[in-house]
Amino acid sequence: MVIAPLEELKQDIEKVEAELQSVVEQRAGALRSAAEMMFCTGGKRLRPALVILVAKLFGAPKSGIYRIAAAIEMIHGASLIHDDVIDSTEVRRGAPTMNAIKGNQFSVLLGDFLLCQALLAVSELGRVDLLQVISQGVADMTQGQILEAQFQGDVTVSEETYMEVVDGKTSALMAAGCKLAALYSDATPAQVQAASDFGRNLGHAFQIVDDILDIWGDPAVLGKPVGSDLQEQKYTLPFLMSYGSSAEDEREEVHKLLANGSYPGEHIPELVKWMDRHQGRARASERATQYTLAAQSALEVLPVSKARDDLAQLVDFLVERQK
Ligand code: FPP
Ligand code: MG
Repeated sequence: MVIAPLEELKQDIEKVEAELQSVVEQRAGALRSAAEMMFCTGGKRLRPALVILVAKLFGAPKSGIYRIAAAIEMIHGASLIHDDVIDSTEVRRGAPTMNAIKGNQFSVLLGDFLLCQALLAVSELGRVDLLQVISQGVADMTQGQILEAQFQGDVTVSEETYMEVVDGKTSALMAAGCKLAALYSDATPAQVQAASDFGRNLGHAFQIVDDILDIWGDPAVLGKPVGSDLQEQKYTLPFLMSYGSSAEDEREEVHKLLANGSYPGEHIPELVKWMDRHQGRARASERATQYTLAAQSALEVLPVSKARDDLAQLVDFLVERQK
């Protein structure tokens, strides 16, 4: 699928790739081949695109924007490397994960390395405010992951808690990227807030769609197996909404399915049927749409421009995506 706004950003994304490459060449040393592998295995470069488009709302971007965009992508990469260790994931983007190839010990250290390089890259821009925003973003991501781990295995987790997890693990980095771009482009405080709100609401919608695809997606298109959230006892929005509208006897049935057999793999089709009966997919999609509308209304405060139209188009693409 061709995404017009991303296609048009090709030259900008090349500059981001050059920043990523320079980290690998100049600083990665012994980690070079692993870091290179990390940056070569696909990825939509969605977060760098968001950073660049938000900067373009305010005119031609200053050259440091590519470093900021690369730093956000490095943090995203580091967080996935750590996440795959936490989740014992073997395949991502159609390729073996770092932990599958190099083991957990190496992967944790590579993630740490990329995270620090990202913070160093931003610090070189000489602005404490930017460093604060990005550091806060990483702290929020980590908090989201901790909360998720705390509630793993709990089918009664509330939708509010689920959203708190999403807000941390996914939306915090998108909000930080958009906020950094606005701050670096000398936007007004109201515009900085709107850019951050845009990224946060987009992140909410993005993760809900991710969780829907983990249940109903096509593994061949996704490049990773489906059903992994249920397998890891992570109960996401379609599940929680279905559980919320289930009668007591149906809940008992769900508890049995979760507790019996080779957990819960063999029962996933029955659990999916149960969620289908409760319109779990449609109701979660509806919630994702509400967040996209909030993202679109945050855009209204920002300067009318081609970049703004492109951001609006990107929002639509991300909720309709199949991978
Ligand atoms: C994927 O979620 C994981 C994230 C979006 C964030 C992971 C964040 C951390 C590990 C904390 C921050 C760490 C660093 C190094 C910055 P998922 O498991 O729901 O999605 P998946 O199906 O893509 O694995
Ligand atoms: Mg994971």
